Amino acid sequence: MTHARIDCGPRSPLRLIVVGSGRMGRAWLRAVTDAPETELVGIVDLDAEAARQAAADLGRPDLPTAAALPALAERTGAQAVVNVTTPVAHHPVTTEALFAGLPVLGEKPIADTLARALSLAAAAEASGQLFMVSQSRRWNPRLFALRDLLSGLGAIGTLTTEFYKAPHFGGFREEMAHPLLVDMAIHAFDSARFLLGAEPVSVYCEAFNPPWSWYDGDASACATFEMEAGTRYLYHGSWCAPGAETSWNGSWRASGEKGTAQWDGESEPVADPDVTSREAAYDGPAEIAGALHAFVEALRTGGTPMGEAHENAMSLAMVEAAVESARTERRVSVDSVLERAHARAVADERRPGVRAVLSAWDSDSVREALAGRDPAPASALSRTPPTR
Ligand SMILES: NC(=O)c1ccc[n+]([C@@H]2O[C@H](COP(=O)([O-])OP(=O)(O)OC[C@H]3O[C@@H](n4cnc5c(N)ncnc54)[C@H](O)[C@@H]3O)[C@@H](O)[C@H]2O)c1
Repeated sequence: MTHARIDCGPRSPLRLIVVGSGRMGRAWLRAVTDAPETELVGIVDLDAEAARQAAADLGRPDLPTAAALPALAERTGAQAVVNVTTPVAHHPVTTEALFAGLPVLGEKPIADTLARALSLAAAAEASGQLFMVSQSRRWNPRLFALRDLLSGLGAIGTLTTEFYKAPHFGGFREEMAHPLLVDMAIHAFDSARFLLGAEPVSVYCEAFNPPWSWYDGDASACATFEMEAGTRYLYHGSWCAPGAETSWNGSWRASGEKGTAQWDGESEPVADPDVTSREAAYDGPAEIAGALHAFVEALRTGGTPMGEAHENAMSLAMVEAAVESARTERRVSVDSVLERAHARAVADERRPGVRAVLSAWDSDSVREALAGRDPAPASALSRTPPTR
């Protein structure tokens, strides 16, 4: 997807407004302040006092703050936005910014529903602005190292993530119907797509709540995805699993034609037999600083960064397909989930320009529109070799 470029970098820092000054917003405020290639010019939060307090806590009590974006963007000469609001606000805040001529770097998930995610990808096309989603766990040098190991293992038969933790969050997560699948598993699903260089085809998922759970909804889940080229991606996890907890990245195992790679989510990944990495190690900034750097680079060069909205929407498609499978107790095809989300997006869209983009996508092959490709016969999916 082409997008407007901005002449920015360390010598001409990108002027950014952060929208959302909650827990994660504060991490972004530090990241934007610390990066030499960005300049924080304002904070927006529906709760204007929260924005003022965040500015004060950053040691910048005079930083412009507001409860709404457009006027502050104009007053500060902002060039782009970081959207760290709650998921339900991702769609309205990002759409408003894109059509005000401001590219957006948004927190995961891209939107609260796949239909609104498709609307945002189309809004990026219609406005000609970059919309990138920060999946912070992708920007981990050890995940890149694991991907390099996988590339030495030949065809991958099975990729597995175990995720077992026991956090007491309080608040909305303990009230959601699917806290693990909707709020957390997207990180692992997104990493699986990255590791395999392959997209999901279908999923069978069971979600359940152990009797001792302190969550209202299903805090445990087991999902088996069929990925392109036939690889199976197995995710099993729980958010009420005390003892021997895995890391926040989960624990990974890839079983391939020529061997096995393992990663505990923290230390260096290993392979048996040892396979020499053929690719240069990633040594850029990590986590949200990595996403921020990629966003600035893409604006400067016109390139398409990892996490660009069209690509990232497939990670949310995995979540929605898994939830639907858990609800219906059936194997669910990802294309059917994409098709229904597309129909919903077209029906709900209020902006004519965005509706025109959505309507131009072939409803039978939304994945091709997201991949920027011409439709391919469905049978070709299972023959496609891993793209790396
Ligand atoms: N990458 C990660 O590891 C990670 C970790 C935590 C949270 N997150 C994501 O970050 C986002 C924010 O999470 P959080 O924990 O900071 O939430 P939070 O509830 O602490 O903060 C959200 C803030 O957004 C503000 N807000 C809501 N709607 C708004 C609107 N329309 N305009 C302006 N401000 C608005 C709220 O007033 C609040 O201050 C979520 O999408 C979450 O999934 C990502």
